[in-house]
Formats: sequence, C-alpha cells, structure tokens
Amino acid sequence: MTRAELLARAREAAGSACVPYSHFHVGAAILTEGGAVHAAANIENASYGLSMCAERAAVFAMANADPADRRIAAVAIASPDAAPCFPCGACRQVLHEFGCQEIVVERDGAPERHPFGDILPHAFGPEDLER
Ligand code: THU
Repeated sequence: MTRAELLARAREAAGSACVPYSHFHVGAAILTEGGAVHAAANIENASYGLSMCAERAAVFAMANADPADRRIAAVAIASPDAAPCFPCGACRQVLHEFGCQEIVVERDGAPERHPFGDILPHAFGPEDLER
C-alpha cells in the first residue's frame, strides 16, 4: 500500500463523517505494521463533548480488530474541508500509544509525510511507566 493509496482510503472514509454540528468532515486511515488498513470518520454527538475524531475512531477499530497487529506504521488524514488536516493533540497522544511512526496529510492533492516525532516531540508514553 503506497502513501497515496492510504491517503485515498482516508479521503473515502471522510465521506462517512457524521458531522451535523461542525460540518467538518475528517477521514483517517491507519496502516499497521502487519499491513492491515483500518479507516474511520469523525462522529459527532448532540452532547458535543462526546464527539469522536476520525483518528481515534480508526485507532479503536484497529485495536479491536486484531490484538496481534496493533502497531501503527502510518496514519493518513484527509478532510475535504481543510487540507492539510493535522491530528488534534488528543489524537496525537492516542496514536503514540500504539507506536505510530508517521503521519500523512494531504497538500495540493498529494501525500505529505511527517515523522511522528516531529508532530509530538518529547512524548509521554507507555515506556515512561516502565521505569
Ligand atoms: N476532528 C477530527 O476528526 N480530527 C482532527 O484531526 C481534527 C478535528 C473533528 C472533531 C469534530 O468532529 C470536527 O472535526 C471539528 O472539530
């Protein structure tokens, strides 16, 4: 799966966004180290704070799908409403939990790759609890 293909999966997922309040559509597609792809969109709620970002929805789909393949090689994020669309801070933390190595955003219609450490430097994570 190329990064362009992963981004296409994120774009496709954005079409499933449930966004009656923000009207801001986001899709995320995770590529696991085992080669699986898990995609999801953001889902909002009338109790606004219960809304869920696309990235975390995709992480939870991945974690439920196969406990043996939960390491994230890359996540692509796409929005027809803003490009590039970078993950929010909460999602960065949750992506880090599963070892996310790279994020891919859309710039001028093409994938733009960022090492994960560039978007969440000095991260706190599971390794800090093992000291
Ligand atoms: N949102 C995401 O799904 N991912 C992001 O990276 C940024 C924000 C969603 C949350 C909410 O449904 C809408 O976009 C506006 O914040």
